[in-house]
Amino acid sequence: MSGITADNKKQLVLVSGRAHPELAEAIAAELDSELLPTDARTFANGEIYARYDESIRGTDVFVIQSHTAPINEWLMEQLIMVDAAKRASAKRITVVAPFYPYARQDKKGRGREPISARLVADLFKAAGADRIMSVDLHAAQIQGFFDGPVDHLFAMPVLLEHFRAKLDASTLTVVSPDMGRVRVADIWSDKLGAPLAIIHKRRDPLVPNQVSVHEIVGQVEGRVCLLVDDLIDTGRTIVKAAEALKNAGAIGVVVAATHAVFSDPAVELLQSDAIDSVVVTDTLPVDEAKRFDKLTVLSIAPLIARAIHEVFDDGSVTSMFDGAA
Ligand code: R5P
Repeated sequence: MSGITADNKKQLVLVSGRAHPELAEAIAAELDSELLPTDARTFANGEIYARYDESIRGTDVFVIQSHTAPINEWLMEQLIMVDAAKRASAKRITVVAPFYPYARQDKKGRGREPISARLVADLFKAAGADRIMSVDLHAAQIQGFFDGPVDHLFAMPVLLEHFRAKLDASTLTVVSPDMGRVRVADIWSDKLGAPLAIIHKRRDPLVPNQVSVHEIVGQVEGRVCLLVDDLIDTGRTIVKAAEALKNAGAIGVVVAATHAVFSDPAVELLQSDAIDSVVVTDTLPVDEAKRFDKLTVLSIAPLIARAIHEVFDDGSVTSMFDGAA
């Protein structure tokens, strides 16, 4: 069997869905381990099947899946893999979802809306998950949607390490592209010793993915602006923000985001002259077709691997971020 053995009784098993096997393989390599061979298929009518090729009875299983498009298919595959692990008598099952699916639907903005992020947590629980591990949840309160431990990891140390060497704090302003990211941007501003600015963004509740910038609060004229966001989907939020910053006199705009969702037309929009560089992690696959000159993709595998090791070893995930970066 693949996996690493801490003692004679406990065994760690890593399994991966089909959405982003490269990330799962990189995580396994960091742990000096291998992915357990799994037979996963999609039948002609769209139904998914998964079976582990070796026994996982009594093991500590981590089911890794990246929720990229088609997101519903990959979510279903992960649920089926958790169910298979439960029925194969795994001792403990951890869902590793670096990008939590449906995270943006975390509350009722208007009457008669779903809270889909909660539904996803319920689905994981019903399938048999004992715990969840994710990176940069869209809203921290999603942790409370799951009735069990949630390891909420932060990509900030990975991203900060990249920027520290490249940006001069004396000319830098950290910018939150909307009200939702102010708290996280504030931590970035503390870590980098740079002031904070906030963009007041508006969305049309009747038109998906459309945004407009109303106002910028804070000093951006003559500054290099570091826009930090949890995710880039269509790219409209970031590009509108970058254009507004440039119009307000910013001398440069660099972007840091954890999750590169990159739905159309993100790749085209992000090559705007208003943006100097974009840095993301590989919580989601970034295919060659989505890569462009200004883009840097950092590996999230070492962070997730260390968290898996801490969970398996009954160590501390929190300690990973004590004084981090
Ligand atoms: C919003 O609350 C999020 O943090 C992102 O800013 C947003 O979802 C990105 O979407 P898009 O790239 O489509 O504007």
